[in-house]
Amino acid sequence: MVVTLGLTGYMVSAYLPPDLATSRVDVHGDPVRYWLLAGHIGFGTIATVAGLAQFWPWLRRTRPRAHRWAGRVYFFAGVFPAMVLTVPVVLASESGMSNVSALATMLVMWAITGVAGLRAARSRRFSDHRAWMIRNYAVTVSVHASRLWGAVVIPLVLLQADGPAYQGDTRAIIHDIAGAGAWLGLFVNLAVVEWYLRRRARPVKTARNAPSPTGSGSGSGTVPPVAHRLADPAQRG
Ligand code: HEM
Repeated sequence: MVVTLGLTGYMVSAYLPPDLATSRVDVHGDPVRYWLLAGHIGFGTIATVAGLAQFWPWLRRTRPRAHRWAGRVYFFAGVFPAMVLTVPVVLASESGMSNVSALATMLVMWAITGVAGLRAARSRRFSDHRAWMIRNYAVTVSVHASRLWGAVVIPLVLLQADGPAYQGDTRAIIHDIAGAGAWLGLFVNLAVVEWYLRRRARPVKTARNAPSPTGSGSGSGTVPPVAHRLADPAQRG
């Protein structure tokens, strides 16, 4: 939580107050491009913060209304408007095809997981809703993760800067760092989330149901994962 908020604060700091002169992305003095970018960042920040609140167990358990409202803010004042503004921002990006294709993939994954999460909530499939929202937030913070991957990618690329891979070409170096960071941020986040969701979905062994050595246990020693989770209000999404 602290890392996500800290990174968001750092990323957003250059755009508060909005000023074309301090933009980290070179928009070539174009105010339309700048405001599309600033809007994207504003809605992206709302999504990041509102989404973070959804993973706070205390809020889900004790303030279900606040949880639902934060969910609406996450989608309708965060992810969805950010997605619309992200399209021109991605199309205008000059950070190389590898980075642009990673960002376009993020955008598609953001849309697919967001719509699936919303539909699951509307049809009260809370277990599915929770899984899709975890995937969706993993995409939201893949942008933050890509900045963290920079700590690994930048030194590795710089070590080869004058070698045959880059031959001192600064543009190629910048594009490669951006592309590698974006792909790693997205792929590793989604892989970790799938691993976590599969682990949770495994049947849960319970002491009560476990078969005794004499064979007198009441069942197979497991409870179905979904039923188990639905029995716990804190885990209903
Ligand atoms: C997941 C979908 C997202 C995509 C595809 C995306 C894409 C982009 C693109 C293409 C740029 C411009 C970079 C360039 O022109 O080279 C950008 C910039 C930026 N985005 Fe996003 N973004 C996403 C989500 C977010 C979120 C959730 C935040 C939250 C704060 C965010 C914050 C920023 C910031 C601060 C910049 C300016 C770059 C900088 O100053 O370092 N983005 N984004």
